Amino acid sequence: MTDVTAGSRRLLVRDLRQLATPAGTAAPLRGGALGDLDVLEDAYVLCAEGRIENVGRMRELGALDDDVEELDGRGLAAVPGLVDCHTHACFAGDRAEEFALRAGGASYEELHAAGGGILSTVRATRGAGQEELGEAVRRHRGWMLRCGTTTFESKSGYGLDGDTELASLRAIAAEGGVPTYLGLHAVPPEFDDAGAYVEFVIGEVLPQAAKVAEAADVFLERGAFDATQARRYLEAARDRGLVLRLHADQFTEAGGVELAIELGARSVDHLEATSEHGIAALAHSEVTAVLLPASALFLGRPMPPGRALVEAGAAVALATDFNPGSAFCESLPIVASLASTQLGLSPAQALSAMTVNAANVLGRAERKGRLAPGYDADIVLLDAPDWRHLAYHLGGDLVAAVIERGRVAWRRYASPDAQ
Ligand code: NIG
Ligand code: FE
Repeated sequence: MTDVTAGSRRLLVRDLRQLATPAGTAAPLRGGALGDLDVLEDAYVLCAEGRIENVGRMRELGALDDDVEELDGRGLAAVPGLVDCHTHACFAGDRAEEFALRAGGASYEELHAAGGGILSTVRATRGAGQEELGEAVRRHRGWMLRCGTTTFESKSGYGLDGDTELASLRAIAAEGGVPTYLGLHAVPPEFDDAGAYVEFVIGEVLPQAAKVAEAADVFLERGAFDATQARRYLEAARDRGLVLRLHADQFTEAGGVELAIELGARSVDHLEATSEHGIAALAHSEVTAVLLPASALFLGRPMPPGRALVEAGAAVALATDFNPGSAFCESLPIVASLASTQLGLSPAQALSAMTVNAANVLGRAERKGRLAPGYDADIVLLDAPDWRHLAYHLGGDLVAAVIERGRVAWRRYASPDAQ
């Protein structure tokens, strides 16, 4: 087999035991359509110039020129490159000490109120320079890639001053991430009150941040920012052309769902505390509910109402929430397992929620999230006879190779033949 890691004009992934992709072209997928997949046995994917040229069964594969490089997919199952639409990947330091304290009974909210939590990561991140932040995002991005993530979003939010926030957004963009400005994550220690910090953010940081970020996000929660502050910030962000996103209903229902719908936000994320009223409101809206079950697990919190949201007809996406405090987990396959075991989503619904619907949250559903002609050639090869092992194999080492824009970006062995 020719080495395809160097890149080539065309790449054929051949003899796949199975290939699974969300069907159709619509986005976001809701209700019954969320679990509607096309599954092919004995399949191939042909890639050209970074895009998918064709997908089909091996017996339908016509003759190809000599210049096509081949990748042996025997024994493997292919799914679209996974899309992580909610992470906090730009941070320095760690929170292992806090993790140990939480294991001993301290709560996440108590640690936050005592100046630990998010603010301890802010101290470490402010101490890092542009170069160190770039290295951190690169390291975290590598972890994600090895779990099958080919497209990732990352928020800033651990600087909370102009320079560190802008350095974070630039580091995320430089590593190929989709940058989101999380200006309202916590009130930094140099401000006495949240209101004054909100005015600083809107007047001093947002104008610069909007030149790098694609979206703005806010942590709307008891002990963080209230709905009035969130509205003022989000309206200013919208005026600067940013997509709007919210962290809401993580611990308490504080009006985040209603605000997201009213302002036309792209997503509202977390929703562990969302009631039936919030579920019904989301189901009748264009706002995607981004569920983060690794965060609920990591904090020992109730799981978000996944099945109820899907059955009510809401657009649902899944993400890791990768961050050093509430979800030190970069693995979307683990999130798929949690979705199926804890949220009541089928493996097929989970796959669509972390491909098509997550790509839609990032405004990339026309290019990302499906294995179909014209889409970007982002492919995950699973060491599994059935693609559903993505959710079934809890914490399994099942990602055998990851292809990004038609190039092998990572593989577990020198050659899949060696398995
Ligand atoms: O989405 N809840 C707010 N923000 C993050 C956690 C950040 C942290 O603890 O460092 C979240 O869970
Ligand atoms: Fe988050």
